[in-house]
Amino acid sequence: MRKRLVAGNWKMHGSRQHNASLIAELIAGLEKGTAADVLICPPYPYLHEIGRALDGHGIWLGAQDACAEDEGAFTGEVAAAMLRDVGCSHAIVGHSERRALFNEDDRLIARKFVAIQRAGLTPVLCIGETFDEREQGMTSRIVERQLGAVLDVAGPGAFAASVVAYEPVWAIGTGRTASPQQAQEVHAHIRGIIAARDAKIADSLRLLYGGSVKAANAAELFAMPDVDGGLVGGASLQADEFLGIIEAAA
Ligand code: PGA
Repeated sequence: MRKRLVAGNWKMHGSRQHNASLIAELIAGLEKGTAADVLICPPYPYLHEIGRALDGHGIWLGAQDACAEDEGAFTGEVAAAMLRDVGCSHAIVGHSERRALFNEDDRLIARKFVAIQRAGLTPVLCIGETFDEREQGMTSRIVERQLGAVLDVAGPGAFAASVVAYEPVWAIGTGRTASPQQAQEVHAHIRGIIAARDAKIADSLRLLYGGSVKAANAAELFAMPDVDGGLVGGASLQADEFLGIIEAAA
């Protein structure tokens, strides 16, 4: 049985004041424990402070990205080892906003994935097709290409210590959630790609769905056999919504 994981991607939102009340509400809401694992991914400047606030409360801390390089003259970049140093256990990599808005390609994302693991963190690899790609019947091919780029560089063994998030681009921030059947179909395909290389790793790999997950639709998504939790954007910024999603995963 794969333990479910609910991850919050705060994107570029927050302030010290806002974070403090959100974290306090989450900690209070999870006081009695939960059957699911919980991860939150705030912006870089807040990681250390939030990590301290989370200490001992059983909520994991993650970053939203990391540099492919370990150290050096890379102005503005943040190394995975630094993220670990400030208390992160995870880092998102290959989010569609990084791919589309910051021109990150499969090759760079694969290098970042490896750098994140090299620093001892768990990568949360995001893959997914655009609306046009789905319309053209290319969904399977797109996730094969995105996953294949990482498999080629990191090997199937790397997926024993990683999380994959299927995030159809057309569902992110749009309120147009994939149906549970649409999510399940792609999740089963993703697990199959890994299973063709290593069945045991595929069986234990946690596959999250992301794209307009809300408290109201989480339970039906998480009921699908290959959906092991969610990567949540907008709804992770509201304590009651995020707690509702975590409850649906428990
Ligand atoms: P959303 O974002 O939940 O706001 O659609 C999901 C994500 O981008 O990870």
